[in-house]
Amino acid sequence: MRTEKRIDELDLKTLQQNHEELLGLCRSLEELADSLPFDIDDTLCRKVSDAVVPLIDRTQKFEEQLLFPDLDRSAGSCFTAMMIERLKNEHRCDRLAAEEISLTLKALLAGRCGLSFDTVGYMLRGFFECVRRHIAAETAVIDSLFAREPERQAALL
Ligand SMILES: [Fe+2]
Repeated sequence: MRTEKRIDELDLKTLQQNHEELLGLCRSLEELADSLPFDIDDTLCRKVSDAVVPLIDRTQKFEEQLLFPDLDRSAGSCFTAMMIERLKNEHRCDRLAAEEISLTLKALLAGRCGLSFDTVGYMLRGFFECVRRHIAAETAVIDSLFAREPERQAALL
């Protein structure tokens, strides 16, 4: 659901908090990838397999309902529209990858993963590197949104 609401201070904090949680997830995934094949922390693996889809889902919905419409209204340029489409496409890819990661980690825990450890490692690394790049791009977009509108930036101070 799109809204006409402009991002306020609380929304900005939520966006930043969501990004921090995603970066924490990336650190956990990197730890799991580094621990393959014989030193896997089962508790961390279970925690990540349960958290990855709901976290991706919640953060993406918030951005698509609030950040992207606000950015689109505020910028109104072709470049911004293309950037938003690119970020939405990344959301779709990340969402599908998150489901694969969750299923793979659960299968690993159950001892029924048919993939090689190298493949699982590449899968985890590919995912968290993409999420980190996505967050960097989104952070730049958020910064540019507020840099363009100094009065809005001042309202947040
Ligand atoms: Fe995003």
